[in-house]
Amino acid sequence: MRTAIILGAKSDMAKALAVNLAKRKVDLVLAARNAAEMKPMKMELETAYHISVSLVEFDALNYSSHVSFMQQIPENSDAVFCVFGFLGNQELAEQNNKEMLKIIETNYVGAVSILELFASKFQQQRKGIIVGISSVAGDRGRQSNYFYGSSKAALTTYLSGLRNRLRVYNVQVLTVKPGYVKTAMTAHLQLPKFITATAEEVAEQIMHAIDSNRNEIYVLPIWRYIMLVIKLIPERIFKRMKL
Ligand SMILES: NC(=O)c1ccc[n+]([C@@H]2O[C@H](COP(=O)([O-])OP(=O)(O)OC[C@H]3O[C@@H](n4cnc5c(N)ncnc54)[C@H](OP(=O)(O)O)[C@@H]3O)[C@@H](O)[C@H]2O)c1
Repeated sequence: MRTAIILGAKSDMAKALAVNLAKRKVDLVLAARNAAEMKPMKMELETAYHISVSLVEFDALNYSSHVSFMQQIPENSDAVFCVFGFLGNQELAEQNNKEMLKIIETNYVGAVSILELFASKFQQQRKGIIVGISSVAGDRGRQSNYFYGSSKAALTTYLSGLRNRLRVYNVQVLTVKPGYVKTAMTAHLQLPKFITATAEEVAEQIMHAIDSNRNEIYVLPIWRYIMLVIKLIPERIFKRMKL
């Protein structure tokens, strides 16, 4: 890996990923809204790890800007980490079409719009790594977060198709299902400690999964079993549960 792009670079997971990549001497493009605010992060990474870090403006919902975004990244870019996401407010989204569309579009349409451009680039250069942060919420729809969950389910399916398409072009596509993670997104939630990862654990597991050429990971392995049990509950029972 020579140059990695981190989309949604201000997120806690992205920051942990940036440090892990910098330790491997990978040059970085930190892409986010109001990217200039990441100047201190750029300087810290450049000074500590002697790598090149550039900041590029990126808004997942500004679809028409995505082609020009690609023109601003280095030619030798060979990895992309799609980290941005929007949990939103389920109750508000049930009343308010704007919130609902923002959840769906950020997590799915925005991700597909930009990742397709990376897919074409990596296919052409016959080399690349695409990492998408999806969610266990996409494994089964629940009343408490089905807009977010369904958008992540769509993202998981998209990444699966992309993996199938790009395998012959030497492009790894990794789907990451973090489970609960202590970040700004979940700061307002009381999360059970034993099934909650840190952003640093997520980043380490992603790097390990890249090295072992994995397709899909649950960051804490226990989540694979939790979701297996949840998926096995018959729908006639599941629909009565308060989840
Ligand atoms: N935390 C969890 O428990 C958990 C669990 C499963 C999956 N995930 C997923 O993990 C990823 C990282 O989340 P996190 O927990 O680290 O949350 P976070 O700190 O809240 O980060 C989310 C990031 O997404 C960015 N973003 C939102 N809308 C955007 C847009 N239109 N264009 C560009 N960037 C946008 C935000 O940018 P701004 O700084 O500009 O607002 C923010 O930096 C997300 O995909 C999330 O869905 C999180």
